[in-house]
Amino acid sequence: MSVLLTNISELVTNDPAHGGSGPGLAGGTGFVPDALGIVPDAAVVIDEGRVAWTGPASSAPAADDVVDLAGRCVLPGFVDSHSHTVFAGDRAAEFAARMTGEPYTGGGIATTVAATRAASEDDLRARGRALVREMLAQGTTTVEIKSGYGQDIATEARTLRIARELTPETTYLGAHTVPAEYADDRAGYIGLVTGPMLAACAPHARWVDVFCEPAAPTAFDEDESRTVLLAGLRAGLGARVHGNQLAPGPGVRLAVEVGAASVDHCTHLTDADVNALAASWSGSGLGTVATLLPAVEFSTRSPYPDARRLIAAGVPVALATDCNPGSGYSSSMPFVVALAVREMRMSPAEALWSATAGGAAALRRDDVGHLGVGARADLTVLDAPSHTYLSYRPGVPLIHQVWQAGTRAV
Ligand code: NIG
Ligand code: FE
Repeated sequence: MSVLLTNISELVTNDPAHGGSGPGLAGGTGFVPDALGIVPDAAVVIDEGRVAWTGPASSAPAADDVVDLAGRCVLPGFVDSHSHTVFAGDRAAEFAARMTGEPYTGGGIATTVAATRAASEDDLRARGRALVREMLAQGTTTVEIKSGYGQDIATEARTLRIARELTPETTYLGAHTVPAEYADDRAGYIGLVTGPMLAACAPHARWVDVFCEPAAPTAFDEDESRTVLLAGLRAGLGARVHGNQLAPGPGVRLAVEVGAASVDHCTHLTDADVNALAASWSGSGLGTVATLLPAVEFSTRSPYPDARRLIAAGVPVALATDCNPGSGYSSSMPFVVALAVREMRMSPAEALWSATAGGAAALRRDDVGHLGVGARADLTVLDAPSHTYLSYRPGVPLIHQVWQAGTRAV
């Protein structure tokens, strides 16, 4: 059955057919970070879960059903390409201590590992589902979920099984930190992560990730990180990296070296890092997206990444929540967009592109993050006339409807 959504004040498509820039995976065409492919006074036709037509409402074809959106704005659903939403416990006390001066070091990850290991499968599933539901209610229609709070074979595999029930975008992050029982045997933990733990987790994962951060004593250095990523690649997973969050380091260079889809955080970059990211897109193949996570800088009271420098160098930038109980417990892409605009000086258009097409590029998906004909019909309807309202009215519940694969989900 087809549905016509009409009376749309502003339709953001990211579609080259309307002058926009999609996830840019076709190769060679490049991308324009603020080309949203906006159609004013628009309509969309959805059929069989896909976008069948977009254009001016005055020339829309007929459909089986009609929904009048009364002058609201429609966006592609947000693509949140980085989250850790299957875990137990919370770290509100750690957050409160940080707000009165404690630094963020990543040391609190062990608290969540202990709670996640102790939790029942049902509890983990219920909590993961609730967070994904919370994301959907805020306009997120595609989410990536990482493991990394198990750090033993059973809990890592359980986390990924549950995550797979919630999304196809699952990431094996056994190498999040070295757990206490391996503190004196880091090589032994790398052996576990790249051996039996990988074998148990790979069937439930699309990606492998590592917290490459030599500045954090329990995270991983360059050689350890390379070993983890190459093992994941050999097992058929795609690579992504947590890098350059707490200090300059090897994460970005390593991500580019192994052909990672994305390197996430990018808070501390050298010129060589920015050049390496830009160069990764200069050939005919796919490069490495810089995924920025400003809710983390907000929640750890840290300096924000330099989005303008990346954009100026031609690096595709994605925005994601990093929703996790430690460094940033927000599930809200509208909040992330508002932070990116206010704190990182991205234009409202750039921030929206990065939260939709940019996230899709970071997941190497060309079926989401845009509303070109044939794309999955994932749409977010704002109770506002334009996308600028996402940052113009921060903290306001603007999400009016959410459609996922052509079905009204919110
Ligand atoms: O992406 N940086 C490493 N991992 C998470 C934080 C995990 C935590 O503090 O629980 C992140 O920020
Ligand atoms: Fe993370």
